[in-house]
Amino acid sequence: MPKTATLQLEDNTFEIPVIEGSEGEKALDITRLRQQTGYITLDSGYGNTGACLSSITFIDGDEGILRYRGIDITELCEKSTFMEVSYLLIYGHLPSTDEFARFKERVHYHSLIHEDMKSFFTSYPGHAHPMAILSAMVCSLSVYHPELLQPDQSAEDRDQTITRLLSKVRVLAAFAYKRSVGEAFVYTKPELDYLSNFLHMMFTTPMNEYFPDELIRKTLDVLFIVHADHEQNCSTSTVRMVGSSKANLFASLSAGICALWGPLHGGANQAVIEMLEAIYADGGNHKKYLEMAKDKSSPFRLMGFGHRVYRNYDPRAQILKAYCDKVLAHLGVRDPIFDIAKALEEAALTDDYFVEKKLYPNVDFYSGIIYRALNIPTNMFTVMFALGRLPGWIAHWKEMIEDPGMKIARPRQIYTGEILHPYAPIEQRT
Ligand code: ACO
Repeated sequence: MPKTATLQLEDNTFEIPVIEGSEGEKALDITRLRQQTGYITLDSGYGNTGACLSSITFIDGDEGILRYRGIDITELCEKSTFMEVSYLLIYGHLPSTDEFARFKERVHYHSLIHEDMKSFFTSYPGHAHPMAILSAMVCSLSVYHPELLQPDQSAEDRDQTITRLLSKVRVLAAFAYKRSVGEAFVYTKPELDYLSNFLHMMFTTPMNEYFPDELIRKTLDVLFIVHADHEQNCSTSTVRMVGSSKANLFASLSAGICALWGPLHGGANQAVIEMLEAIYADGGNHKKYLEMAKDKSSPFRLMGFGHRVYRNYDPRAQILKAYCDKVLAHLGVRDPIFDIAKALEEAALTDDYFVEKKLYPNVDFYSGIIYRALNIPTNMFTVMFALGRLPGWIAHWKEMIEDPGMKIARPRQIYTGEILHPYAPIEQRT
């Protein structure tokens, strides 16, 4: 591999360092480009921009590969749990028995929410979107932990912040749901594991105490594992961007939650079900919508299809597709929306437009279908995504904040507005 690339600009030649990642990914290191040449690079949507060096997640979009800390996503889904994957992402290695016990104990210990915060929830109108509530609540948590807001906190304080957030965000999400359905809040139960506790808080009512069965718990484990990290996606980049100003983790995660909300990102799981419902309400003619998605004069896109990175298949979607079939059979669910989803997927996978543009179902196409079968309301889907993504956001924030070379994120631009001209008094303006 060459150590430098040569850039010819006007009459000058510049040597640009070439760097290579551990999986052979190559980059031109342009850190000093502007200083040396006066030029910047323009890369709208950052499709070719490496914003950092990272050792957390590896993706090869052409080959459909996703690995956390070097371990394949399929193997993690088969053999691990969301809690263990969280540790792996955040601390960089699989935990020993002692490390894992300590980690789980801490997460378990920090599950209580300050009682004052309950009144925050009741101040929102019942129809408030739970993503708005979640983002506000995560930021609001910070006011109860002023000792954890210092940018240069000790490793011990950082671990406290991390475990508090891992534990409490799940409680906040369950409370946001309870608020939206007008039911009483349910607290964590000491004997339950992390995810069973979450489902217990969501679905327990005064009439019925809910405990998920093994397949439902495993399905949620897998859903959260496949969502746990995805390197420099929109919300993770947001967490890093906000955190780069040394804003605390509560604020950085709150911003990440907002970024995830958009329908082109995590909000797509909600958008998929809304699209399927619209097709059903319109008579179930999925082909009409397939044609609309191809029509450039229509803004309509097939939600849950396509991905910036995966141009082969999304390995997460393959894993979830199998669980989708298992869960629907297990629960005996018969829902016309699922039939439309299957027909749409089949038609798109053999359609020239989708084949040529390499548009495959992404993780959000199947996750929404599973959440719906689990009776999770549509407006909670993106909250579920946020819970799954939490360890990834935390891992990236931690990696960045612990990097001695960390710099505040501050892209540049090419200005295309008016050039200098004098101020015109109002009476002279036409
Ligand atoms: N339906 C129809 N056409 C599509 C779709 C789609 N879902 N996705 C991409 N295309 C077309 C585009 O119109 C474009 O066509 P053109 O080359 O003729 O102009 C081409 O495919 C490339 O698409 P881009 O938008 O340039 O791809 P980009 O990488 O910028 O966008 C994105 C990726 C945002 C995911 C896009 O595929 C999309 O909007 N998908 C639907 C929303 C969605 O499912 N988002 C979830 C992504 S997964 C996640 O965030 C967890």
